[in-house]
Amino acid sequence: MTDPLQRHTDYGQQPLLESEILGDPIAQFQLWLQQADESGVYEPNAMVLSTIDPDGLPSSRTVLLRGLDESGLEFFTNYSSEKGRALLAHPEVSVVFPWYTIHRQVIVRGVAQPTDPAVSDAYFASRPRGSQIAAVASEQSRPIASRDLLEQRVRDLEAQFGDGTVPRPETWGGYRIRPSRIEFWQGRSSRMHDRLRFTRTDGDDWQRERLQP
Ligand SMILES: Cc1cc2nc3c(=O)[nH]c(=O)nc-3n(C[C@H](O)[C@H](O)[C@H](O)COP(=O)(O)O)c2cc1C
Repeated sequence: MTDPLQRHTDYGQQPLLESEILGDPIAQFQLWLQQADESGVYEPNAMVLSTIDPDGLPSSRTVLLRGLDESGLEFFTNYSSEKGRALLAHPEVSVVFPWYTIHRQVIVRGVAQPTDPAVSDAYFASRPRGSQIAAVASEQSRPIASRDLLEQRVRDLEAQFGDGTVPRPETWGGYRIRPSRIEFWQGRSSRMHDRLRFTRTDGDDWQRERLQP
């Protein structure tokens, strides 16, 4: 039996070079996301989102990236959840995409703002009905006395909505993160990893620098 705390994995020799990385970090990110998907990374659009609670303490959790373009990174959640309350007090976030099996990670810092309600409506309407009902039933992050109680709530809502449309709860919707910093990390042998970080300038351009591993 191996001891998982004593593992040493060789991260290989695939480089991340200044001469090869794209000038636009969003385009580079889209490329890496595509490659992660094609390489069989499980849930390549899963990202660990860290926020700052109203009392200044950090908290993290996984959410799924549902949109990625020049305007930023989009995800959907409950606005009244712990993360929703954190984002109201502190919109600054950090997210990491941990693509361990391909020896890569992308780390983004940015500011999250609620998306336009029309965007949330469109995405909510595209979700499976079971997920829609669960989104209505769950006061995400609040304690509940039992699972039975939650399941009863779902049954009540199924009866209430019948075959009709499930309306998007006002407390459920999207956020878009506008990145101020994007780091691309490529694992290499002997801990000599490549790290290239883009920082947004005042003029809305990107400045790139190499960081020590
Ligand atoms: C792979 C994975 C994907 C998830 N995707 C989402 C998501 O897109 N939106 C969401 O609200 N929660 C998602 N969750 C659940 C969150 O991690 C978290 O439990 C929930 O949002 C409540 O977080 P909070 O109490 O910190 O607000 C996901 C969890 C996992 C493991």
